Amino acid sequence: MRQRRPPRLLAPLTLTLILALAAGGVRCDSLAHVDPLIGTTNGGNVFPGATRPYGLAKAVADVDGQNTGGFGLDGSNVTGFSSVHDSGTGGNPSLGNFPLFPQLCDGDDLNACRFRIGDRKVHYKNGSVKAEPGRFAIELDNGVSADMTVSDHAALYRFNFAGATGGSSDKHPLVLLDLTDLWQSRQNASVRVDEHSGRMVGNGTFLPSFGAGSYVLHFCVDFFGADVHDTGVWVNSRAGTEPKTISLTRGFNLFYIEGGAFARFNPHRDDTVTARVGVSFKSAEQACRSAEREIPNPLSDFNRLVRSAKDAWREKLSPIGIKQGGATDDLVKSFWSGAYRNMISPQNYTGENPYWDTGNPYFDSFYCLWDSFRAQHPLLTILDPHAQTQMVQTLLDIYKNEGWLPDCHMSMCKGWTQGGSNADTMLADAYVKNLSTSIDWELALKAIINDAENEPHEWSYHGRGGLQSWRKLDYIPYLDFDPLGFGTNSRSVSRTLEYSYNDFCLATVAEGLGKMDTHLKYMKRSMNWQNVWKEDQISIINGTDTGFKGFFQPKYMNGTWGYQDPIACSALAGFCSLTSNPSETFEASIWQYLFFVPHATSSLISLLGGDDAFVKRLNFFHTSGLADISNEPVFLTVYLYHYAGRPALSTERIHTYVPKSFNSSPGGLPGNDDSGAMGAFLFFSVMGLFPVAGQNVYLISPPFFEEVSIRSPQTGQKATVRNIGFDPSYKKVYVQKATVNGKPWTKSWIGHEFFTEGWTLELTLGTEESDWGTKPGDRPPSWVS
Ligand SMILES: *[C@@H]1O[C@H](CO)[C@@H](O)[C@H](O)[C@H]1NC(C)=O
Ligand SMILES: *[C@@H]1O[C@H](CO)[C@@H](O)[C@H](O)[C@H]1NC(C)=O
Ligand SMILES: *[C@@H]1O[C@H](CO)[C@@H](O)[C@H](O)[C@H]1NC(C)=O
Ligand SMILES: *[C@@H]1O[C@H](CO)[C@@H](O)[C@H](O)[C@H]1NC(C)=O
Ligand SMILES: *[C@@H]1O[C@H](CO)[C@@H](O)[C@H](O)[C@H]1NC(C)=O
Ligand SMILES: *[C@@H]1O[C@H](CO)[C@@H](O)[C@H](O)[C@H]1NC(C)=O
Ligand SMILES: *[C@@H]1O[C@H](CO)[C@@H](O)[C@H](O)[C@H]1NC(C)=O
Ligand SMILES: *[C@@H]1O[C@H](CO)[C@@H](O)[C@H](O)[C@H]1NC(C)=O
Repeated sequence: MRQRRPPRLLAPLTLTLILALAAGGVRCDSLAHVDPLIGTTNGGNVFPGATRPYGLAKAVADVDGQNTGGFGLDGSNVTGFSSVHDSGTGGNPSLGNFPLFPQLCDGDDLNACRFRIGDRKVHYKNGSVKAEPGRFAIELDNGVSADMTVSDHAALYRFNFAGATGGSSDKHPLVLLDLTDLWQSRQNASVRVDEHSGRMVGNGTFLPSFGAGSYVLHFCVDFFGADVHDTGVWVNSRAGTEPKTISLTRGFNLFYIEGGAFARFNPHRDDTVTARVGVSFKSAEQACRSAEREIPNPLSDFNRLVRSAKDAWREKLSPIGIKQGGATDDLVKSFWSGAYRNMISPQNYTGENPYWDTGNPYFDSFYCLWDSFRAQHPLLTILDPHAQTQMVQTLLDIYKNEGWLPDCHMSMCKGWTQGGSNADTMLADAYVKNLSTSIDWELALKAIINDAENEPHEWSYHGRGGLQSWRKLDYIPYLDFDPLGFGTNSRSVSRTLEYSYNDFCLATVAEGLGKMDTHLKYMKRSMNWQNVWKEDQISIINGTDTGFKGFFQPKYMNGTWGYQDPIACSALAGFCSLTSNPSETFEASIWQYLFFVPHATSSLISLLGGDDAFVKRLNFFHTSGLADISNEPVFLTVYLYHYAGRPALSTERIHTYVPKSFNSSPGGLPGNDDSGAMGAFLFFSVMGLFPVAGQNVYLISPPFFEEVSIRSPQTGQKATVRNIGFDPSYKKVYVQKATVNGKPWTKSWIGHEFFTEGWTLELTLGTEESDWGTKPGDRPPSWVS
C-alpha cells in the first residue's frame, strides 16, 4: 500500500520570516563551532587537516599511529606532511602520497640526515596542534614548526626552522620528498629535482586503499623564501647531490625501497621555507599548472588562502541555523562539525580524470556508498543539493564509462562492494526528492536495472552476484553455485536483504517514470527477504534462550536451512568483514540485519508478532550489547519504533546514544566516520528528522536544540523544526502535538517538501509519551505486495 502524499501547504509569508529572523536569528560564526579534531582518535579516522569543501588537496601532518586519515591525536610520531587524503574511512590508510619532511641535519652533514620513515619520525609538541577549517599547524620536537593551507588542487606549507637552528646561521635546512604513500603501496615512482630552483616533479603508481587495480598520481613541488643550497636524491638511508633523478621499482619479493628527492636551503632571515605542492591524477604538468594558477604568490598567499577556504566553508554551512536554547556547547560543536565533515569527501576531481572527460563534473572517493547512502548523501541533499546532483551525475558517468554503477570508488579505482548495489538506493533517494531536473532519470533506471539483471564476471567491485539464483530461487543461497561471476561468496543473508531493498528502489524509480510493469516486477522481488526468514529460529546467548523466535538464516540452494548464530558478527561475538571471518552477514549480526527491510517494516512487525513484540525485540537489541552504534547498519534501528506507533521510544533511544557515544572530543565518535556518515547521523538526530534513505520520508523526533532551520539552497525557502516548551535537560522530550505551518500534523514523519517548500514544524513537548504518531495511519509508510 502506498501512503498519500502530505497536502501542499502555503509557504510562510515573507513578513513572518523576517519576524522569525529578528526574534530568533542569533547570527554567529558557524566556523567557531567546527572542530576538525573530532574523531581523530578512537578509530574515527577523520582527516583533520586543511581542505576546501570537496577539495582534492588535503594537507596535514601524517603520523605512524592512527593514520587512516593522515593525522591522529593518539600521541604517535609525525612521519611527514602530505597533500591528499580521505576522511573517516576503514580499510588501509588512504592516500598520503609524496610527503615532505623538514629537518636540520646534525653537523649540517647530509649523511647525518634522517631519510627513512623509521629514522626521521619525530614526536610533536603536545598542545601545539591547531586545526581549523582551511588550516592546520603543528610543532615538531625537532624544533621545526609547520603551518599549512590549501587551494583546490595544491597545498601550501610554511616550515619554520627557528626553533631548530637556535639562531645559528650556518645550518642548511633540508626538506625531503618521499616517493611513498601512507600504506607503502607504491609500485614504482620517479622524481626529478631541479638543481637551481629545487622544483621536484614526478609521479608514482599506487594501490587504492580499499579497491582493485592501481592509480597514478603526479606532483609538482616548488620552494620559496629561501635560496637553494644543494639538491639531490636519496635512497634508503643515503643521499647524494648527483644524480638529480631517481626511479624506484618494487623488486625482489616486492621489497619496499624508500627513496625520493631533497633540497637544502641557505639560511634566511625569517628561517622559513615555503613549499607549494600541486597534485594531479593527470600529469605533472597539470599539477604544476594548477599550483601556479591557484597559488601564484606563495610567499604572500597564505592568509588569502586560509580566508578563502574559511569563506567557502561558511558558505557551505550557511543554510543551517539553530537556536541553542540552553543545549550544551559540546553538542553544538558536534552538530556543526558533523555537517562540516560531510563535505570533506567525496572529492571534486573534475578535470582530473585520466580515463574520460565528458565535460561534466567528476567526483571520486565514494568511500563507500554502503556507509554513505544512509545519512551522508541525504544530508548533502538538503545542505548542498548542487554538489549532490554532481555526485549523482558522476555515478551515471561512471556507469556509462565503466559499465557499472560503483558501490565504492576511490582514487580513480573501483572499491570493494560490501553488500548490495547501493548506488541504486542513492539514485532513488535523489529521484523521490526531485533533486534536480538535470539528471537523466531514464539513464539512471537503465543503470539500476543493469545492477539488478546483469551479473558482472567480477562482482566484488560492482554489480551483484548470484543473480541466477536470485531470479530462480528468489533469495541468495548459502554456498551458492554461481559459475557466471565471482566475488567473495559470503553474506548470503545480508545480500538478500540489501538486494531486496535495492529492488524496491528500482521499483520506485520505475513507477515514477511510468513503467508500471517494471515497477510491479521489482516490487515483487523486493519482498524476497521473506524467503530467508526462519520462523522457528531462536537465539541463545551464554546458554540462555533470549526468548525470541524467528530470525533470518542462511538457506542452501536446495531449500534446506544452514545456520548462523544470530549473535555472530555482533560486538558480543567478534567482527566479520570481507576478509576477516567472512560470514553470511556483513559487519553486523543477524540480530542487526533483522531490522533491515526499510520498505516493508510493517510486514516485519507482523512476522515478529505485532507492535509490542517488535518493540521488545528492538529494546533487547539496543540494550544487550548487540546493537553496534559504531557502524552504519545501526542507524535506522534507532528510529524504527516509529513504525510500531511508538515515536516516543525512538526519542528515548536516541537520547541513550547522544551524548553517550557522540561528543566533541577527539575520541568523540563511536567508530569510523566514513566520510562523515557518523556526523550525518548525529546531525539528523539533533535536528529531529531522520531520513529513510531511498524514500521521501523523514522520521520526526524532537530536536536536541530549541530550534533548527535549514534554508534550501535550491528554493531559498527556510524550513524550521521548533520545539515548543524546549527543555535542555531533556526530561520533556515527548511530542504531545505537532503542527506544520500552524495546522495539526498527526503523522510521525514528513516528506522532503518540508525542506524545499520551507515549512515550519512545531512540536509541543511534554514529560510523558502521548498518542501522537501512534495511529496506524500516522505511521511512516510501508509497502506490502
Ligand atoms: C603528550 O601526549 C601524549 C599522548 O597524549 C602522551 O603520551 C605524552 O606523554 C605527552 N607528552 C608530554 C611531554 O606531556
Ligand atoms: C616516537 O619516536 C621516538 C623517537 O624515535 C620514539 O622514542 C617513540 O617511542 C615514538 N613514539 C611512538 C608513540 O611511536
Ligand atoms: C609501474 O607499475 C605499474 C603497476 O605495477 C605498471 O603497470 C607500470 O608499467 C610500471 N611503470 C614503469 C615505468 O615501470
Ligand atoms: C612518470 O614519470 C616518468 C619519468 O618522468 C615517465 O617516464 C612516465 O611516463 C610518467 N608516468 C606517467 C603515467 O605519466
Ligand atoms: C567541482 O569542480 C568543477 C570544476 O572546478 C566545478 O565546475 C563544479 O561546480 C565543482 N562542484 C562543486 C559541487 O563545487
Ligand atoms: C516532486 O515533483 C513532483 C511533480 O512535480 C511532485 O508531485 C512532488 O511532490 C515532488 N516531491 C518533492 C519531494 O518535492
Ligand atoms: C557471556 O558470558 C561471558 C563470560 O561469563 C561474559 O563475559 C559475557 O558478558 C556474557 N555475555 C552476555 C551477552 O551475557
Ligand atoms: C541440501 O544441501 C545441504 C548442503 O549441501 C545438505 O547438507 C542437505 O542435506 C541438503 N538437503 C537435502 C534435503 O538434500
